[in-house]
Amino acid sequence: MKAAVLHEVNQPLVIEDVSVPNPGPREVLIRTRVAGLCHSDLHFMEGLYPHPLPAVLGHESAGVVEKVGSDVTYVKPGDHVVTCLSVFCGTCDNCTTGRTVLCTDTTVKMLPGASNRLSWARSEKLNQFLNLSSFAEQMLVHENAIVKIRKDMPLELAALIGCGVITGYGAVVNTAKVQAGETVAVIGCGGVGMAAINGAAIAGAGRIIAIDTNPAKLQLATKLGATDIVDPARGDVVQQVRELTGGGVHHSFEVLGRKETAEQSFAMLAAGGTATIVGMIPFGQKIELHGFDFLRERRIQGSSMGSNHFRVDMPRLVEFYMRGKLHLEDWISAKLKLSEINEGFANMKAGKTLRSVIVF
Ligand code: APR
Repeated sequence: MKAAVLHEVNQPLVIEDVSVPNPGPREVLIRTRVAGLCHSDLHFMEGLYPHPLPAVLGHESAGVVEKVGSDVTYVKPGDHVVTCLSVFCGTCDNCTTGRTVLCTDTTVKMLPGASNRLSWARSEKLNQFLNLSSFAEQMLVHENAIVKIRKDMPLELAALIGCGVITGYGAVVNTAKVQAGETVAVIGCGGVGMAAINGAAIAGAGRIIAIDTNPAKLQLATKLGATDIVDPARGDVVQQVRELTGGGVHHSFEVLGRKETAEQSFAMLAAGGTATIVGMIPFGQKIELHGFDFLRERRIQGSSMGSNHFRVDMPRLVEFYMRGKLHLEDWISAKLKLSEINEGFANMKAGKTLRSVIVF
């Protein structure tokens, strides 16, 4: 099959011939139909997060089951599936207490560099990325890394649910558990931030404040449910949010991955409010907070992949789309061929796109 390989950080991806073996007992071979380009891929391409290389990146995808291993009962060839990097074992302490995104069982969730699911004619090892490697015509994954979806759901929209949408929506609904009427601010309205905004609207949040440096993104945010917009070019972001809300928000979401915006997310809270950090802050970067704020019961927490239970959450997101509540068509800025993947990342870097998808 063809796959896009990252050989070195800050180098373009190279389309190469790669092989996948037949599925092991609990593995599923998927014909990739669509793969989204996510900012997290770019973080790894730029070396902000480490990963053994060479590797096939990509982790937001949907496709059709081609072959299943001898012990797989959950899916059969022909089923439509969305992938999720939050592969779970179902038996460890984290899984049995309901926090499946924190599963660390290495028999299902492989450590970087440990997988043999990809191979090629070259001598060096080719690494699978986040148990998926979606920038390839086929994916070999554990059966607990996929969810079946209804066949009338367009796969190019379903792919988005696999990472960006579940991460933003889940941060609001699962991690922060936003209640109807509460005020919400979202810093960074890219693919993930828009899902947080749309999720806040679905959850019935009161005011939803979108914050982004790109006016086009702010405009779209309004369509997806934002009630107010804040442009950092117009002055101090924290002050603008405080003025809009009369003192601060109940919930803020940092959906960018930077020290300054993480600090802003905490500073814009009302007393008793909670900041949820969704963005991937560069590895090793520390953030600074005012200790006094904890006396006013302000809280800060992380959210990983929207604290998802993806086999429950993703079919619900599909239903929200079908019922016109989740506006997935608005996410797609460009449909690309695998050979155009580097252009897609260049456009993401230039802030021109919300989501580009590779259609195979
Ligand atoms: N303040 C507010 N918004 C900003 C700022 C800033 N200082 N700088 C950039 N932005 C906006 C961009 O204009 C863009 O709309 O942040 C958005 C980032 O969006 P994307 O690049 O599309 O990123 P996305 O895929 O949504 O991921 C965001 O979430 O899961 C993580 O790894 C991911 O850290 C990344 C974050």
